[in-house]
Amino acid sequence: VVDVRKLYGQADVFTYDPGFTSTASCDSAITYIDGEEGILLHRGYPIDQLAEKSHFLEVCYLLLYGELPTAAQLEDFESRVTNHTMVHEQMHRFFTGFRRDAHPMAIMTGVVGAMSAFYHDSTDIHDPWHREVASIRLIAKMPTIAAMAYKYSIGQPFVYPRNDLDFAGNFLRMCFSVPAEDYQVNPILSRAMDRIFTLHADHEQNASTSTVRLASSSGANPFACIAAGIACLWGPAHGGANQAALESLKEIGTPDRIPEMLARAKDKDDPFRLMGFGHRVYKNFDPRAKVMKQSADEVLDLLGVENNPILAVAKEVEKQALADDYFVDRKLFPNVDFYSGIILEAMGFPTSMFTPIFAVSRTVGWVSQWKEMIEDPAMKIGRPRQLYTGPSQRDYVDVENR
Ligand code: ACO
Repeated sequence: VVDVRKLYGQADVFTYDPGFTSTASCDSAITYIDGEEGILLHRGYPIDQLAEKSHFLEVCYLLLYGELPTAAQLEDFESRVTNHTMVHEQMHRFFTGFRRDAHPMAIMTGVVGAMSAFYHDSTDIHDPWHREVASIRLIAKMPTIAAMAYKYSIGQPFVYPRNDLDFAGNFLRMCFSVPAEDYQVNPILSRAMDRIFTLHADHEQNASTSTVRLASSSGANPFACIAAGIACLWGPAHGGANQAALESLKEIGTPDRIPEMLARAKDKDDPFRLMGFGHRVYKNFDPRAKVMKQSADEVLDLLGVENNPILAVAKEVEKQALADDYFVDRKLFPNVDFYSGIILEAMGFPTSMFTPIFAVSRTVGWVSQWKEMIEDPAMKIGRPRQLYTGPSQRDYVDVENR
């Protein structure tokens, strides 16, 4: 805590907390995390129960409206989402403006931001109907946009959504159907996909959610704010970690190379970090990682990928790291991304799609947090302060005298 009167002559005291390690930026009734105990609750319900007994769209309803839906409410919600999965035909042109090998996250950031140019009828943040429609549009269209970004990046035609499939099955089909062959959705893979969406749905004030809140606090429209969240999620310390974690495991390659890689991760002169390990909040096992690990076993069993070398390396990395004082002392456990990449790869997704899939899942969290903030009468524009460390006032020197 700094007495800024000495610095700025203002009657204020503020905290200096780089990285916001101990500063709450808001109050929220959506998600609770106890990082020491490894607990994650959405509106009070434990994540492992939701992953086991619920499904993604029901969790979306819970996050958005605060309670589990009745059967009629769920049916109505699912049909509203389903009705909004198509994107405007004109929006196809946005995709074709990108280089053919553009990263799907770059395309998603641009296309989602540009949705505000199409959906003027849901950009007034002060109108509850606009807020509701924007929320549903974002949740419903995000899988379509992610799948289109993927198809574009591999030079294949777009696949339109099919509304008789569930949310996860429809996404898999939009990604994997080709003109000659309609993808047949396997219910076990669709369940695993749904579980990945559910486990990533919200995580209170993480970097991308805080970005959405900060952007929204200026009154910016919801599509622009969610685009800001997507841009933030792309970083390897956040949503990009699932791609980085799988690439790390592949780089390790065989179990005999694990000690060498752990030594590199521990070496402070080496920028290498063991991706998929550690979490700002969890100082215990990430509860989502437990479910994800189980899901990885199920998917690999189903696909007959017995003795998957990457999974074998992953399990051995986990074992050796958890027996190593460096990781134990710093409470570095596998996080949700450590196993999700293995599942996604087994399903046939390239690593470039891992973070877009995270964005599809997290859209409901961003939207729920955005709505909660906008509907709070005490909402203020977010405006962090700083500790200035630059030169004190000095006089301009003409260029010939420098
Ligand atoms: N490998 C090796 N050392 C690590 C790792 C790691 N993955 N993570 C943290 N450490 C070490 C740090 O070097 C530091 O050591 P020191 O105290 O000796 O200096 C200590 O553990 C604390 O690390 P911080 O970076 O201060 O912890 P912070 O809370 O800021 O970082 C983060 C959390 C960014 C997630 C970090 O653990 C990391 O980079 N992990 C790898 C990336 C990753 O998996 N990100 C996904 C997060 S989950 C998500 O976004 C869904």
